[in-house]
Amino acid sequence: MTHTLPPQDNNPALPSRRNILKSAALATAASAAAFGMHAAAQTGAPRPAASAPAGRKVALVTGSSRGIGAATARRLAADGFRVTVNCVANRDLAAAVVREIQAAGGEAIWEQADVSDPRAVRRLFDANDKAFGGIDVVVSNAGIMRLAPMRDMTDEDFNRMMDVNLKGSFYVMREAARRVRDGGRIIALSSSITQLRSPTYGPYAASKAAQDFYANVLAKELEGRMISVNALAPGLVNTTLFTDGKTPAQIAGFAQRTPHKRLGEPADIAGVISLLCSTTEGGWVNGQTVFANGGVV
Ligand SMILES: NC(=O)c1ccc[n+]([C@@H]2O[C@H](COP(=O)([O-])OP(=O)(O)OC[C@H]3O[C@@H](n4cnc5c(N)ncnc54)[C@H](OP(=O)(O)O)[C@@H]3O)[C@@H](O)[C@H]2O)c1
Repeated sequence: MTHTLPPQDNNPALPSRRNILKSAALATAASAAAFGMHAAAQTGAPRPAASAPAGRKVALVTGSSRGIGAATARRLAADGFRVTVNCVANRDLAAAVVREIQAAGGEAIWEQADVSDPRAVRRLFDANDKAFGGIDVVVSNAGIMRLAPMRDMTDEDFNRMMDVNLKGSFYVMREAARRVRDGGRIIALSSSITQLRSPTYGPYAASKAAQDFYANVLAKELEGRMISVNALAPGLVNTTLFTDGKTPAQIAGFAQRTPHKRLGEPADIAGVISLLCSTTEGGWVNGQTVFANGGVV
């Protein structure tokens, strides 16, 4: 079921090929508006539009009721996108993200859908299309983390992690490949753990490494359509996914491992996604794994 909310009163790549964004090179992208930009307006060979009609472009962010996804939904809305928010369980949080976007003058809907179910993923995209008429940006962000030494990991934890991270993101990326309009962007959330390779992270890291391959291969498969596909690999971001099960001392210790001596915040990652989703500047980053971890790797 699709959920719209009444308007508010005040409503007006492979690791060896990784591409670490240089902030100076992309600074101009940060201010690029997402409104009504034609696919042919981006750098590269022009192509007649089979893209969005004039008006706001549309973004769908899976797992955007909290954490990195919620920050991304808010940021893309602030950039001018109409946004579809998604949760698996926390309906109240998803509704709150939508209300916040609307209160700031944006447009959003939310839809509960478990990405590990391919029918639910189709329903999620259908709801987006019904509300907004099409899709320009997909961020495959929904993910879970189960940690244990390999000898202790249960079948249940392993299988659920693969169902959500490996299979679920595939279902989302497949639907994105079918539906994203010319000139669009597709981003899959990988992780810097693919480089750190710490004990207890083996199966989780494997499920995240898959995102690098999804993005790199899909970028090639969508040739000629001016759609850029990338994996974004955060590290040490202050969300429950990262902090749950760790003591305050352990968390502080992780923060000290970064050159900036702090954890990343969801908004740090949302800002990089915003750069990659700029319809005017970000498109030449394509088929890459972009690391955003404060320099910990
Ligand atoms: N935090 C980090 O340090 C870090 C580092 C590297 C990569 N990442 C990746 O970044 C992504 C977001 O992580 P996060 O830290 O923001 O996690 P988080 O705070 O735990 O939020 C997870 C989000 O995903 C949703 N979700 C979980 N399972 C789902 C499912 N089966 N179907 C649909 N939605 C589902 C949750 O919805 P509900 O609220 O309904 O449960 C929630 O919105 C993940 O893919 C993660 O692997 C995170």
